[in-house]
Amino acid sequence: MPVLGLGTWRMGESARRSAGELDALKYGLDLGYPMIDTAEMYGEGGAEEIVGDALAGRGARPFIVSKVYPHNASRAGTIAACERSLKRMRLERIDLYLLHWRGGARLEETFEAFHRLKDAGKIGDFGVSNFDLDDMEDAAEVDKGLNATNQVLYCLSRRGPEFDLLPWMRMRAIPLMAYSPLDQGGLLRKAALKNLADEAGCTPAQLALAWLLAQPGVVTIPKSASRERLKENFAALEVKLTPQILAELDRAFPPPRTKQPLEML
Ligand SMILES: NC(=O)c1ccc[n+]([C@@H]2O[C@H](COP(=O)([O-])OP(=O)(O)OC[C@H]3O[C@@H](n4cnc5c(N)ncnc54)[C@H](OP(=O)(O)O)[C@@H]3O)[C@@H](O)[C@H]2O)c1
Repeated sequence: MPVLGLGTWRMGESARRSAGELDALKYGLDLGYPMIDTAEMYGEGGAEEIVGDALAGRGARPFIVSKVYPHNASRAGTIAACERSLKRMRLERIDLYLLHWRGGARLEETFEAFHRLKDAGKIGDFGVSNFDLDDMEDAAEVDKGLNATNQVLYCLSRRGPEFDLLPWMRMRAIPLMAYSPLDQGGLLRKAALKNLADEAGCTPAQLALAWLLAQPGVVTIPKSASRERLKENFAALEVKLTPQILAELDRAFPPPRTKQPLEML
């Protein structure tokens, strides 16, 4: 799985903004972003349609991640939801298909549907999202082969997963896909991040993303509908963090000392 992708939450919600969103996704793909993260929830299918438009006519396509709503995640419902997502994106296969959050159907049913979709070649692999450690333990009990990803809220200002979830996932070689890596923009307003970015010779967004990418087993999916910011964020791949900057980041944004319940947006 690639380490950096394009987020699409809030896309496909307004006809007025859709041309700009399409332009941003196409530009991001031209820059070389190797992955897109979307969901049937985003714009109630609108984001997947824009992803389909952005992919149309391209040769090599990026790694595609999408998600099923928990209320659609029954045995038959998951398969039907996946078919709808494929149709909206005009694809034959979703590379990674996630249960958006726990709830609704029993995990056994959802995973059985995921296996059927995988056997039929309609998804490359499957995983979960917004699963805390106890949920992951349940999931691993239901499906011993679960190893694709758990997509969760994780960024410099919300480091809770480091206490128990991330180590557990690392032990099992399950990548953590960090969503809202910029804390939806809020992180970028923190003076400590700005100062350290100056010291590191990059922008605050690049520092926040490079920090995530420096964590073993972590990949991330920042969202932007602006060409300039997409370019800025993509360049985070080139940022090398010194041990000194990493230590200063730990001081400014301390890791958790106790269990923090997983936060969810
Ligand atoms: N599984 C889940 O439950 C879940 C939940 C939340 C998110 N996600 C996924 O994760 C993706 C990313 O998370 P997110 O969209 O919540 O938040 P995010 O990526 O942390 O932040 C996005 C916000 O930051 C702004 N931004 C982006 N790059 C910037 C830069 N370089 N400088 C200044 N501002 C910048 C964007 O504005 P502009 O667009 O105007 O640039 C947007 O308002 C989502 O799009 C979605 O695909 C998944």
